[in-house]
Order: sequence, then structure tokens, then C-alpha cells
Amino acid sequence: MSLIELLRQRRSHPSRQLVDPGPDPAQLRELVETALRVPDHGKLEPFRVLGVDRSHGRVLGERLAALTLVRNPEASVAELDQDRSRFDRAPCCLVVIAQFSEGHKVPVQEQLLAAGCVAYNLLLGAQALGFGAQWITGWPAYDRDAAALLGLAAHEHAIAFVHVGTAAGEAPDRARPQFATKYREWHP
Ligand SMILES: Cc1cc2nc3c(=O)[nH]c(=O)nc-3n(C[C@H](O)[C@H](O)[C@H](O)COP(=O)(O)O)c2cc1C
Repeated sequence: MSLIELLRQRRSHPSRQLVDPGPDPAQLRELVETALRVPDHGKLEPFRVLGVDRSHGRVLGERLAALTLVRNPEASVAELDQDRSRFDRAPCCLVVIAQFSEGHKVPVQEQLLAAGCVAYNLLLGAQALGFGAQWITGWPAYDRDAAALLGLAAHEHAIAFVHVGTAAGEAPDRARPQFATKYREWHP
């Protein structure tokens, strides 16, 4: 399939409908290695990827749920269950971590974009390898206690939890932004 065709067909698969098998070690390596080939102003490499396999994801989910319960003892069973399943819903979860250098001549916005490209490459690469994938965030992406559970340093931010697995069924496409409304030519 050509790259253009892949892009035309690109879509996410709901992360809760991603089943075994996930990528094997060689596929995982290929997926991550190719995803790292992003445009990168200043060659700062402001990103890294943390792999969470399902069994470890279960432990992480329990810790997240415990955090939620400490903060809100009234948290519902549904809320706690949602936290428990944040990292083990699919065979594999790849956490894309942006590493910000504040005060660098390359603005943090550009560093974030480079890291975002890694996350997007993971989606495309997963699809190219025949898997389904979905980019999820949610509160753990914006919370320093959750970051500590992931082992992140102060300058690191989880920007994507990319769930990867075998798509159980076809994901219906959604209405896409249209050329006619999204593209204009600039005229002086
Ligand atoms: C930065 C970012 C964060 C996202 N976070 C979530 C999320 O937490 N939950 C969710 O259901 N979708 C989230 N999405 C959207 C899905 O990844 C996905 O794009 C959506 O299901 C639409 O499918 P599509 O990729 O085929 O257009 C996020 C997307 C981006 C770019």
C-alpha cells in the first residue's frame, strides 16, 4: 500500500476493542524505531517512549485508582474501574513522553510538536503493520502524581498513551475535515 493510500485510510480503533495479539518484540522495536524519525528543530530529541505491557499496565492502573481514591474517597466504582483499565485495555500501551528544555532557542511549542509527531508516527506505523491503535490522554497525562507513577522527571510530560493491538472488527470511519472548508490560498 502506498503511503498516500495508508493516510487516506488512517483511522483510530477504539482502544477497548484492541485484542491479542499485540506487536511481538521485533514489531515493537520496528514500530518505535520508525516512529522516532520525526522532524526535530535543533535535533533536541525532546521525546522518549515508555512501553507498558498488559500485566504491568494492570499494576499501574491499580495505583492510579488508589490515587483517585485518596483524592476523592467518594469516587464511584465506575470511575475507579476506568482508572484501573487505563493501561491494560489493549495488549500494549506506548507512553510518549515529551521532554521540555525551557529557555532554549527552540520554543517548547516546537519541542511538543516533535514529540507529537512521534505519537502520530506510532499510530501510522501500527496501522502499516496491520494493527489498530488509538491515542488517549485523560487526566493522568496532566497530573504530576500520575507522572511520578510513570517515573517521569520534572521536565517530562506524558503526551500520549498509544494503545496498540489487533483490531476486533472494522472501525467505522467518521466524517473528515474537507479540503473545501480547510484550504484557502493566500492572496496579497
Ligand atoms: C492529543 C490527543 C488526545 C486524545 N485523547 C483522547 C482521549 O483521551 N480519549 C479519546 O476517546 N480520544 C482521544 N483522542 C482522539 C482519538 O485518539 C482519535 O483521534 C479519535 O478516536 C478519532 O479517531 P480518528 O483518529 O480515526 O480520527 C485524542 C487525540 C489527540 C490528538
